[in-house]
Amino acid sequence: MEQLQNEIKKRRTFAIISHPDAGKTTLTEKLLLYGGAIHLAGSIKSRKAQRHAVSDWMEIEKQRGISVTSSVLQFDYAGCRINILDTPGHQDFSEDTYRTLMAVDSAVMVIDAAKGIETQTKKLFKVCKQRNIPIFTFVNKLDRFGKAPLDLMTEIENVLGIRAYPMNWPIGIDGQYHGVYDRRKKHIELFAADDSHGQKERASVVFSMNDKDAIAQIDNDVYQTLLGDIDLLDTAGEEWNDEKISHGELTPMFFGSAMTNFGVQNFLEEYLRLAPQPQPHESTEGIVMPDDEKFSAFVFKIQANMNPAHHDRLAFIRICSGKFERNMQVFHIQENKIIKLSQPQQFLAQDRQIIDDAYPGDIVGLFDPGIFGIGDTICDTKNKFKFADFPVFPPERFARVEAKDTMKRKQFIKGITQLTQEGAVQLFEQPGTGMESYIVGTVGQLQFEVLEYRLKNEYNVDIVITMQPFEVARWLEFNDGKEVVPESLRGADRGMFVYDMKNRPVLLLNNEWSLGWISDNNPDIVLHNVPPDK
Ligand code: G4P
Repeated sequence: MEQLQNEIKKRRTFAIISHPDAGKTTLTEKLLLYGGAIHLAGSIKSRKAQRHAVSDWMEIEKQRGISVTSSVLQFDYAGCRINILDTPGHQDFSEDTYRTLMAVDSAVMVIDAAKGIETQTKKLFKVCKQRNIPIFTFVNKLDRFGKAPLDLMTEIENVLGIRAYPMNWPIGIDGQYHGVYDRRKKHIELFAADDSHGQKERASVVFSMNDKDAIAQIDNDVYQTLLGDIDLLDTAGEEWNDEKISHGELTPMFFGSAMTNFGVQNFLEEYLRLAPQPQPHESTEGIVMPDDEKFSAFVFKIQANMNPAHHDRLAFIRICSGKFERNMQVFHIQENKIIKLSQPQQFLAQDRQIIDDAYPGDIVGLFDPGIFGIGDTICDTKNKFKFADFPVFPPERFARVEAKDTMKRKQFIKGITQLTQEGAVQLFEQPGTGMESYIVGTVGQLQFEVLEYRLKNEYNVDIVITMQPFEVARWLEFNDGKEVVPESLRGADRGMFVYDMKNRPVLLLNNEWSLGWISDNNPDIVLHNVPPDK
C-alpha cells in the first residue's frame, strides 16, 4: 500500500494544448532537455527541411511535418515521474485529440505571446474545462515582440472566462526580456546570454528583490516598471486559491521562451509542485481511488500500424488504480472476458520498451488483437465495474467516400470498418446507396487525409472522397419513441437523411440556421448532437 501511494505521489500526467506554431513541440522538447531525457535540444525536432517531432510516427506526419496522432512520453525529473500526452497541433485535429484529454490529470496551455488565444486553443480549452481539470498557462516566445503581459491576462479572462494568476513576471522591454520575477519566491532571475541557440540549458543567476548587483544590471526604468507591476498584481490581481486552481477556474500563468530556454526550468519546477497527482475516476461502482490496490484502467486511444516496422495495433490504457504487472490477468468488461496483458509497452521518443510494471497515471500501450474499443474498462478479476462513458464529440466535416476500384469493395469495407472501431471516423449510410459508398463524419479535415492514406497503405484501397456541404449532425428521436423516417420529418430535404452504424436516424445539415429551421418546424422531434443512448 505504502509503495503504491509513493508511486502515485510521484506521478504527473498531463497534455500540452495549443494552437499550431505556438511552440508546443519546442516546449515538450525543452522539458525533455531539462528532465535529462535528451541531451541536446534539436536532436528531436530538426530544422524545417525535415521537421518532425518525437511523436511523429506515421509516414504522413513526416511528409507533412505535422503531428497527426497523440503520443506519450515518459521521463523523470526531480523525483517526479512525468507522463506527457502530446496532442496534434495541426489546425485540423481529430477526436483523438479530445480523447487524449480524458486521460490526463491536468493540462498546460501554450500561448504565443504575439498572437494571444487562438481558435484551436479555445476548442481544446473547452474540453479541459468540461472536465474541470487544472489548466496551467505558459506564455511563449517572450524573446520577441508580443502583447503586453497585462493584456494577455485580460485576454485569457475575456476569451476563456477564467482568471489568471501570474506566477512570474518578465523583466525587461518587450522583445528583449532578460529575466523573470518569481512571485512565490520573491526573487529575480536574470538569464545569461543564450549562446547555444537553445540547445543547452540556459544559465541564470538568482538575486533577492533588493540586491544591488541585480539592480545594477537592470535599467532603472525597467526596474521601476517591475516594482509597479508587482504592486499592481499584489493589490489588484486575483488572489491565490488552491481550490479554484484544482477545478480549472484559475490558471497559474508563466512567461518564458521555449526556444531560448528562458523561464522553462522555473515553469517545470513550479508546475511539478502544483500539478495534481493521479486523480480518482467515476465508475458504475462509485469513485475509484488511485490507491485502491485492485488494478483498473481504461482505453483512451487505439492505433494501428504506428510503426511500419512493427505492423501492429496498440490500445493505449491509462492506469487508474492499483499496480500493473506484465502478464497479469485482468477482466475486460466490454468483452466480458478474462485476458492476459502480455507485451505491455511504454514510450520515449522513438523507442519502445517492454515494461514489467506501471502505476496509476501511467500510460501503457497494449498489443491489441482487435478486442479493445475506445473507453473500454479493464479491471481486477474480483472487482468488476465500468468507468464512466467517454463523451462523444459531434462530427463537423462530412464526405462521401467510396472505393475507386469496385473490385476492392471487400477490403474497402473491412478497412473503413476497422478505422471506425478505432474511433478515427464516424460512419453513416445513406438509404438507397447500399455499401457502395459511405458518408464519413470527422471532427477535423485532416482525418480524411489520414483515412485516405491508411486505406491505401494498410488495405491497399484507393478511395474517392467527395466533400459534402454539411457542418452539423443531429440524431433524431420522436418524443414518444416512434421511429423517425424521412417522411415524418418536415424539411428533411434541406439536409441529408442518413443512418449511423447502429441504424439510428441522423440528419446532416449545412449550418446552425438550417438546424434552427428544422427544430422550429418539427416540435415533436428531439434533436441530439450526440447519439441519444450515450
Ligand atoms: P507547435 O508544436 O505548437 O506547432 O510549435 P513548434 O514548437 O513547432 O514551434 C513553431 C515555431 O515557433 C518554430 O519555428 C519554433 O522554432 C518557434 N518557436 C517556438 N518557441 C519559440 C520561442 O520561444 N521564441 C521564438 N522566437 N520562436 C519560438 P519555425 O521557424 O516554424 O521552425 P524551426 O525552423 O525553428 O524548426
